Amino acid sequence: MKDYLIYFAQAYPNFRRAELESLADLYNIPLDLSHHDEASPFIIVQLENDHQAKQLLARSILSRGIYELYGQGESIDKIHEQIKALNEKLDAIRHWNQASFKFDFIGYMGGRSNTTKVDIINLFRYLPLEGKIQMKNPDQVFTVLEEYVREEELKQTIPVTVWFGRQIQLSARVNNILDKYDLKQRKYIGTTSFEAELSLVTCNIGQVAPGKLVYDPFAGTGSFLVAAAEFGGYPLGSDIDIRILRGNGKDRDIRANFNQYNTLSQFVDVLTMDFTHSALRNDIGIQCIVCDPPYGVREGLKVCGAKDPERAAGREKIVIDGELAHLKRDFIQPKKPYDLANLLADLLEFSANTLPIGGRLAFWMPTANDDFEPHLVPQHQQLRLVYNLEQEFNKWSRRLLVYTKEDSEYEGVTSNGLKMHNIRNFRERYFHSFSDDSR
Ligand SMILES: C[S@@+](CC[C@H](N)C(=O)[O-])C[C@H]1O[C@@H](n2cnc3c(N)ncnc32)[C@H](O)[C@@H]1O
Repeated sequence: MKDYLIYFAQAYPNFRRAELESLADLYNIPLDLSHHDEASPFIIVQLENDHQAKQLLARSILSRGIYELYGQGESIDKIHEQIKALNEKLDAIRHWNQASFKFDFIGYMGGRSNTTKVDIINLFRYLPLEGKIQMKNPDQVFTVLEEYVREEELKQTIPVTVWFGRQIQLSARVNNILDKYDLKQRKYIGTTSFEAELSLVTCNIGQVAPGKLVYDPFAGTGSFLVAAAEFGGYPLGSDIDIRILRGNGKDRDIRANFNQYNTLSQFVDVLTMDFTHSALRNDIGIQCIVCDPPYGVREGLKVCGAKDPERAAGREKIVIDGELAHLKRDFIQPKKPYDLANLLADLLEFSANTLPIGGRLAFWMPTANDDFEPHLVPQHQQLRLVYNLEQEFNKWSRRLLVYTKEDSEYEGVTSNGLKMHNIRNFRERYFHSFSDDSR
């Protein structure tokens, strides 16, 4: 095992561990992140080889890079002492002695001038590196990473911890995936479109992977579908509202988005369908389910069915052009309101019936901060809740709930916390009990 240093981004620190653990699990990489501290963007982990480090970081959204670690200390002098004292470190560096290379600096909460950087690089001249120095696309990048704190007496920031390593992999984030998927640049979006960063994170934690069939039952404008395709998944979506799936005409629909991202060949399709009356077979082969269910804030929570079944039964006798009206192709189904609690219970039941063992369901659930209780999180006897990650706003928050389908030995408990506590309508609470304009 070797030491590697991971440098995280300054975004959603409470989601970092879940993202990396999920990727490690996906690629069968043993990874211990139990010492992760949300306050620090650096963590040292043990991995077998660079290949594992590359797999772990390449599609990460919440990390920036991973480095084979050669030294760590409170100053650069300490790093020189360590490297010079340990033959194994010098040997590890000597391995690259013919490679072209450059030095890079990363400062967290501080930084150095170009002149001091050159001075520091010169202090490393004892390293057994004989290759060409190359600033553009070198074979290897040796990196000095430094964490600074503010020293009030000196009125400046000073480095308190320094690491020295070889860059193994920069993340998808550093390779500009967030610009690529930015909603502002996307051809087709709507009021329900889910932001790029967290849809990609959801797909990472949901363990979307090449060749997997990924289903979003509430696809809307397809934010999770395009994110899933980015990671090689085959996205399939459904939505009760045909207008949102159809889009606003040519080049302003879900297909246009797949075209934009060059993933159209992976796109399975979207179906106009009420999720509570699903037409999908259980054995269709769905391996991941990722979604943002309707909570009634920007879109009504409706399902097919009549509010007044007696009246509806009478209407079934209506004949148009010699055909029963409700059997005609252009018949528009009546819709009735539905409880959020029931919809989430349906989502868990569907996932338990369709996912393979180990398959994941990842969905977002908004909650009011003032009265959230863990028992409100819905549970299913065959699904293990693996993550409950909170994104906090002012008076409300939303949670990414992630479940894994377990085998028949697993004895979970089915519980519908929202129903038990009569939490019927998030919209009502959102507009009346508390208010926040950040959504
Ligand atoms: C919060 S939005 C999801 C938006 C989506 N993530 C996007 O990128 O646009 C919820 C979606 O669920 C749809 N919906 C509401 N009730 C539904 C039902 N019974 N079955 C399927 N879809 C439904 C709504 O039309 C809406 O598009």
